[in-house]
Amino acid sequence: MAHLAIKGGTPYRTKPFPDWTMITPADEQGLSKVYDQDDWGIDGPKNKEFQEKFAAYSHANHCLTVANGTVSIELILRGLGIGRGDEVIVPPYTFIATISSLIYAGVTPVFADIDKDTFQMSARSAAKCITPRTKAIMPVYVGGRPADLDAFSALCKEHNLYLIGDAAQAVGSTFNGKGISTYAVATSISCQNSKNLTCGEGGIILTDDDELYERIFTMLHGGMDADGNYTTLGLYNGMSELQASILLTQLENLPAQIEKRMKNAAYLDEQFAKFPFVYAMKQDERITHNSYHLYLLGIHEDKLQGVSRNDFLAAVQAEGIPLYAGYVPVYSFDCLASDYTKKCIGGEINLKPETPNAETLGYHEGSWLYHSVLLGEQKDMDDIVGAVKKVYEHLDELK
Ligand SMILES: Cc1ncc(COP(=O)(O)O)c(C=O)c1O
Repeated sequence: MAHLAIKGGTPYRTKPFPDWTMITPADEQGLSKVYDQDDWGIDGPKNKEFQEKFAAYSHANHCLTVANGTVSIELILRGLGIGRGDEVIVPPYTFIATISSLIYAGVTPVFADIDKDTFQMSARSAAKCITPRTKAIMPVYVGGRPADLDAFSALCKEHNLYLIGDAAQAVGSTFNGKGISTYAVATSISCQNSKNLTCGEGGIILTDDDELYERIFTMLHGGMDADGNYTTLGLYNGMSELQASILLTQLENLPAQIEKRMKNAAYLDEQFAKFPFVYAMKQDERITHNSYHLYLLGIHEDKLQGVSRNDFLAAVQAEGIPLYAGYVPVYSFDCLASDYTKKCIGGEINLKPETPNAETLGYHEGSWLYHSVLLGEQKDMDDIVGAVKKVYEHLDELK
């Protein structure tokens, strides 16, 4: 008789993990106050209050609320004057929006590799990608884990490049005790439905640069300056008061949620360290807060006795554990080779970069758990570990 659920055995767990999103009475009370306001738009009181509170929470001088975490990157690039003919170095192990925002701004993405034990862009690999056309380096803090911001800051300083943070997944993460945005000229956060601080759709830009803030502010108001002149090109890509209200009340819960996720992640790290066929992420004391949008786990496919990572994960999922394979390198997507992409950037993207670690994690070793799973209790974490162990102990059923 089969033991594994995927072969007809009894699943290790049938209870669901905590779901996302999580509405609270405070969200509802906040929203009901917005209904009575005259101004539901980007310059309303909830947007202002959130911007102030979130800037303080993130140790940033300025916060702008925008429509999503894709236009936020596009606005940062436009605000910095980065466009057609320019290159920005990015990792290929990311969500497509990291790249589409560059292309929409006319910028050519250049792919640097990631480190296998962090899933983050490697500063050493990024250094090799610098050309006279490079204007910025944009690490993506995959899963909420900050990249090596000391190394990226030094690299950007040395080559006179902008450091931009794609922190779509890293709301609340800190490095060396400081908000991640303090390392970059500007940082972009997503508040899309799946994210740890969400209002359904939304984005945030953090910057300490007064001029950049003013330029993006103007762009967000259709390009109109304080005197009513259209001095720059802009689109109304702001956030409504209803969204800002939700963010304000959801922000109240964020610090405690981050603590809980960090605690559960540390427990999982400890448990998974006992298994030779998986590897937890490298410890880094400089990461003082990790939002854990994703719990990242490497699978040693070569230790699965001929079973592929994908088949192994399918079996884990059948046991009731949402451990998924994660990204494949974005350069594998057809859209990056399309005529429209070429038209936008006025050239072609190198779609065969030297990024072996992104290939390995994408196709053979990467896996992750979604952040709401980390809002469970220790016994829920034990189920995750127990189910992974069970599948490993019955690999013969998968062969
Ligand atoms: C790494 C990364 N960059 C950018 C984005 C784009 O954010 P949004 O969906 O808010 O446009 C996302 C979110 O989905 C993301 O995960």
